[in-house]
Amino acid sequence: MSAAGAAGFDPVSVIAAKRDGRELTGGQIDAAIAAYTSGRMAEEQMAALLMAVYLRGMTAAETVRWTAAMTDSGARLDFTDLRRAGRALPAVDKHSTGGVGDTVTVMLAPLVAACGAAVPQLSGRGLGHTGGTLDKLEAIPGWRAEVPADRMREILRESGAVVCAAGADLAPADRKMYALRDVTGTVESIPLIAASIMSKKIAEGAGALVLDVKVGRGAFMTDLPRARELAETMVELGARAGLPTTALLSGMDVPLGYAVGNAVEIAEAVEVLAGGGPADLAGLTVTLAVEMLAAAGITDVDPAAVLASGGAMDSYRAMIRAQGGDPDADLPRPRQRETVRAGGAGTVTDIDALGVGRAAWLLGAGRRVPGQQVDPVAGVVLGVRLGDAVVAGQELAVLHTGATGDDARERIAAASAELERALTVTPPGTAPGPGPTHLGVLDRIGAESAP
Ligand code: URA
Ligand code: CA
Repeated sequence: MSAAGAAGFDPVSVIAAKRDGRELTGGQIDAAIAAYTSGRMAEEQMAALLMAVYLRGMTAAETVRWTAAMTDSGARLDFTDLRRAGRALPAVDKHSTGGVGDTVTVMLAPLVAACGAAVPQLSGRGLGHTGGTLDKLEAIPGWRAEVPADRMREILRESGAVVCAAGADLAPADRKMYALRDVTGTVESIPLIAASIMSKKIAEGAGALVLDVKVGRGAFMTDLPRARELAETMVELGARAGLPTTALLSGMDVPLGYAVGNAVEIAEAVEVLAGGGPADLAGLTVTLAVEMLAAAGITDVDPAAVLASGGAMDSYRAMIRAQGGDPDADLPRPRQRETVRAGGAGTVTDIDALGVGRAAWLLGAGRRVPGQQVDPVAGVVLGVRLGDAVVAGQELAVLHTGATGDDARERIAAASAELERALTVTPPGTAPGPGPTHLGVLDRIGAESAP
């Protein structure tokens, strides 16, 4: 921003313009984001502007400028010049908008690395019922989320994949604004979500990006039209910023895999890396790997074959070790376990991802407020999938918690009640209620046709 722009910036007129439905100028957007980041625009003024944006929306031009201003609020990494053995090593990034039981990153980063690309993946922590990849990986003894940028480059050259926390200097405007949106009812705005995600991804400095936009009860976007609009907005923002971006829309009405939590999801990811594990989780991982490899210009390697051969497991072990973790150490075990059983015979016709996510959260897998410690052992391990026939008394799920005493009893009681609502067993001869509709990969949005 020019000195004249800074001096002439009047937050109230910008708020009023958006309140009255006018399009903001690029200069107004740059000035507001710069002033807010540096503390010259008050929290209540940005809160009012965010609510005006939430209610009035933003044009494509405004969203592009808002995103650029947030990207420019901090440092930019650059991984487009990586080399290994004298050859260019293409860097490709992935982002999921967040779901329940979504351990995909833990398998996908090493899988894509094993196929010949580099994956610099800055990840987040969970808030509310959706888990965070860093919280899951921290269940591995010794593993550390903090990696300095120069060490990131070293790890990428050596093992090809790094999953770590974003530094404080990456898109600081978003860090501050996200916390404000969280407490002002302004999270669920498509331009604000798109700008928030894409400003960070553009600043991360990969050569290409693949988005997994989750749709359904356990996701941010519960319906397909809004999820598609979010995906299209982000793909466009990527293209405008010189970051080729494709998006898959994938269902989040039911959890991915059987495990929902931290250590339990790492155990499930390791099963997939060993060539087994739940088919939905392995399938989505391979589908996203195909997209990422195509984006990196690698079309002669079949990630399904690399996964089956154990090649991704070797990359996973190197990735964990590079960040101080011991891939052979036992994962922490729960202090208390409780089994939820079927009340009668029937067919499993619904597993509500939101309910299962909430149950895991109640057991201690997630946070009530930002910054809280999570319980690495807390979580839910489902014993059944959609469509399974069950008999009376059959195990439907096992709850895990690291809590003890009254705390454990209260957590288990609340989580059991939540799970009983989430799991529907329809007795024989009875018509099932409305079941899940958002399952598997629902659509793909990107410049080129599917690889
Ligand atoms: N994830 C983000 O990083 N930002 C949002 O606004 C929503 C989800
Ligand atoms: Ca899972």
